[in-house]
This record gives sequence, C-alpha cells and structure tokens, in this order.
Amino acid sequence: MAKTYNIAVIPGDGTGPEVVTEGIKILKAVSEVENFKMEFVSFDLGGERYLRTGETLPFSAIEEFRTMDAIYLGAIGHPEVKPGILEKGILLSLRFALDQYINLRPVKLYPGVEAPLKDKGPEDIDFVVIRENTEGLYTGSGGFLKKGTPDEVAVQESINTRKGVERCLRFAFDFCQKRNKNKKLTLSGKTNVLTYAFDLWERTFQEVASEYNDITTDYAHVDATCMWMVKNPEWFDVIVTDNMFGDIITDLGAMIQGGMGVAAGGNINPEGVSMFEPIGGSAPKYTGKNVINPIAAICAAQMLLEELKEKTAAKKIEKAIMQVLAHDLKSLSAGKMGHTTSEVGDLVVQYILEDTKEASR
Ligand code: IPM
Ligand code: MN
Repeated sequence: MAKTYNIAVIPGDGTGPEVVTEGIKILKAVSEVENFKMEFVSFDLGGERYLRTGETLPFSAIEEFRTMDAIYLGAIGHPEVKPGILEKGILLSLRFALDQYINLRPVKLYPGVEAPLKDKGPEDIDFVVIRENTEGLYTGSGGFLKKGTPDEVAVQESINTRKGVERCLRFAFDFCQKRNKNKKLTLSGKTNVLTYAFDLWERTFQEVASEYNDITTDYAHVDATCMWMVKNPEWFDVIVTDNMFGDIITDLGAMIQGGMGVAAGGNINPEGVSMFEPIGGSAPKYTGKNVINPIAAICAAQMLLEELKEKTAAKKIEKAIMQVLAHDLKSLSAGKMGHTTSEVGDLVVQYILEDTKEASR
C-alpha cells in the first residue's frame, strides 16, 4: 500500500496562501509519480485570525500538529498587528512547543539566477547554515526595571544550555558528514566578546569534534563570517551558529543566493515534527496579485520531502526548480518574473512530469 503522509498547512498571511498553493500543487504532482500519498490539513493561523479573535496559537492546534508528519508554512506577518505579537505568538511558539531545535538554511546559487556577487557563480555559493532554533536571545529571558522612568533598565539574556548547544552541534557534525561535500564544519560565534556563551559553544564543539575524525573543523567570528560570505563564500561547507547570529547571517545568505524569492528553511526536530517555510515575509504589497515568486516555497516543499526521506521526489523537485530558473524566469522579483505565481508552479509540475516520462523511456 502506498504510504500516506499527513501534512499540516499554515498558509498564514499576505502572499503566504498564494505560494503555499503552488507548493501543494507540486507536492501532489510529485507524490503521484513517486507513488506515495499526501493529505493536507489547513490551519487558519496568522494576523487575520488574530485580528478577528484575539487568538494567536490555540493549544489544540499544537496538539494536532504533534500528530502530523510535517508542517508546511507560508508566511506570518500582518501590517495591522504590532510587531512581536505574531512572531512570538505563532512562529517562535511553534518552534519552542515542538522543540524544533534546528533551523536549517541552505545557501545555494542556482545556474540562471543572476549572480549577486561579482565573480562568484554557482560553484562558489553552495553551503548550509545550521542555526540553533530554541535558545540564545530568543527565549524571552530578561525584563525591565523601572520601565518608563529615566532610570529604566532593560535586560535581554542569551540562554545557552549544554544540552541545547550539544544537540545542535551533533546535528551539524552528522549533517556535514552526510552532505559529504568538503566535510568542513565552521563554528561561527563571538568568542572574543561573548566569553561565556561562546566559551560553552567552543568547548562543546571541540569535544564533539573528537568523535568525527573525518570532519575538518574551523572557527570564524560572526562579523568575519559576514565578510567571508561575501568575499569567499566558496570557503564554506556547513556553518553552525546560535539563534541570533543564525538569524542575521541567513538573511545575508539569502541575498547572495539570489534573494528571498529562492530562500527556504526548515525548523527541524529530528525526533519530532518539523516545519518548512520560505524565509521571505508575507509581502503585503503583492498580496492577491498572483505576482509573487513561489520558488522559495517550492524549495521548502523539497526540504519537507527530504525530511520525510522521500529523496527521489525531493530530487525531482530540485531538478525542476533548476530548469525553471535556468530557462523560464526573467527575474526572481515579484511582478518581474515574466510569469504569474501560478504559471511558475505549473512550469515546475511540467518539468517534473517530463523528467518522469524520460526516465521511464
Ligand atoms: C526568521 C525570522 C524570525 C526569526 C522572526 C519573524 C521571529 O526572521 O525566521 O528568520 O527571527 O527567527
Ligand atoms: Mn530572520
């Protein structure tokens, strides 16, 4: 009997629903040719629901997510909702509640995508950032003293636990080994200033490294990492870093791979339920116009299949994405692709079907 996967879908806000529609179109097409089934259950979460009901993430939704094989997320963010409410109330709450302790963000420049860095091509830009996703500055630890007075104090603490750091590093070493590219893992931190947090990271890194003789280890301060990502991106294979630094360097990563139109990420709990999303926001300006680029969401769908161990299907999506990028899109920017959002989805499906036909010849 064909395997069935239950996928929770959070279309979310802005252009989220449009790009998720294309991703699901592709997942349906590829599951048919690869002989497995996907059932999609849509969840109404996001800014609209919050404005309507005052609710961000009901407990019942989290409980339902726990029973799913994966979560596919469009975008969260609404211009009429104060910053922080939806981010903390939905996105971060989900990462924490489902203990998705890895944020996996590939940085890969595909052929045909206009190279944003002078003299750097697809052979130079192909690395992965592994960002710790449940600790650091993101835990909400801290507070105000004497708020609103001239003596006000605001403290925001970075929480780094041995367990949290070690499991992230172990994932990174394993990932680097399986990726089997240069077998080089770079720890990115700030050991010269954050002498407690990154002391723990560095010590644990050295300890875990001793179990991986085939992996070359490297260290770079996070500011220098930004510099090398622009100057010599070919030096990187896998980078591992904490939550805040990972957030920052992956936006830079998204830009050097061609922009938010192609950048995707996975919030992964290797022992639980993982969530996949395009990194770009909800793009309210382009909502409902059928002009947003769905490729990032389709890349997220590809990552979702990789996590489900449907490797052949994932490869087929990547091949199709590469065809579209190489032959069909005038630009990656919303409104300038030379195709509508749904046409880009159709093209990806078409390449998947052609690829399958050819293989069976
Ligand atoms: C991201 C986003 C989130 C983060 C925000 C929306 C909370 O920037 O996924 O990178 O900081 O993690
Ligand atoms: Mn970010």
